[in-house]
Amino acid sequence: MKRLLATMIAAGALLTALPGRAADVQPGNVKTGATHVAMCIGCHGIPGYQSSFPQVHKVPMISGQSAAYITAALLGYKKGERKHPTMRAIAGSLSDQQIADIAAYYESQVSISNVPDTAAQPPKEVAELLTRGNCASCHGANFNKPIPGYPKLAGQHADYLLVALKAYQTSDNAKIGRGNAIMAGMAKPFSHEELKLLADYIGSLPGSLATVPQSRFKTAQH
Ligand code: HEC
Ligand code: HEC
Repeated sequence: MKRLLATMIAAGALLTALPGRAADVQPGNVKTGATHVAMCIGCHGIPGYQSSFPQVHKVPMISGQSAAYITAALLGYKKGERKHPTMRAIAGSLSDQQIADIAAYYESQVSISNVPDTAAQPPKEVAELLTRGNCASCHGANFNKPIPGYPKLAGQHADYLLVALKAYQTSDNAKIGRGNAIMAGMAKPFSHEELKLLADYIGSLPGSLATVPQSRFKTAQH
């Protein structure tokens, strides 16, 4: 418990060190955000949409993710800390205000609220990995209620979770890699096989992330 508390305090300190909103950025506006997502729905608005470059996997579900995390992720692509080429180009075309509005919009798309507080008991080998990585201390006991600003993981596409975990281990590739220092430290000690076990388990959990199909986006824009 003490160790858990220490991790959470350390994580909180790191969170306050994340890039804050620039002084001239207003709090995100859901309605304005809806007018900026036309270029997102072709991938994030199609359930199960498969991305093929630079790796083959399902595009992440972003509806229901917190605005703070969506903002941090988009700024990560914009600054090149996250190297995914398409997302870099897309985030680079957005102003910080547009990012704030889009993030508010996707956060507002939560439709599922009955997620159990604690995740189902994992198989023994997975339990051992989760304990070793202390994953729940930041991502929540059900992987759906993280420390504010950190990502929800429960129910996210398992193949995407694996690609993301491997990206935190990668720093010598022009197209693949994520520079986040916290997750680099978490992911690096694990083998790819171990990361796959973690991704498959976490992806199988009930969560509140969703892909909201295109037609509902259109309605939201009226
Ligand atoms: C061509 C398909 C495509 C389009 C268009 C697209 N995305 Fe993405 N998006 C992806 C893929 C693939 C990833 C995973 C990238 C990675 O591995 O880091 C991603 C990742 C993200 C993430 C990070 C998710 C996470 O869990 O960390 C966010 C946020 C995001 N996109 C938002 C947007 C927004 C907002 C738009 C429109 C302005 C958009 N995307 C347009 C394919 C797309
Ligand atoms: C000290 C806090 C902390 C711990 C412990 C931690 N994480 Fe994370 N995790 C984060 C943060 C912060 C991010 C967002 C990093 C970024 O912006 O790229 C993240 C991101 C992720 C992502 C990417 C999510 C997405 O949508 O792209 C995955 C997958 C992940 N963590 C899995 C794990 C697993 C599995 C463990 C245990 C082995 C773990 N994390 C332990 C803080 C933590």
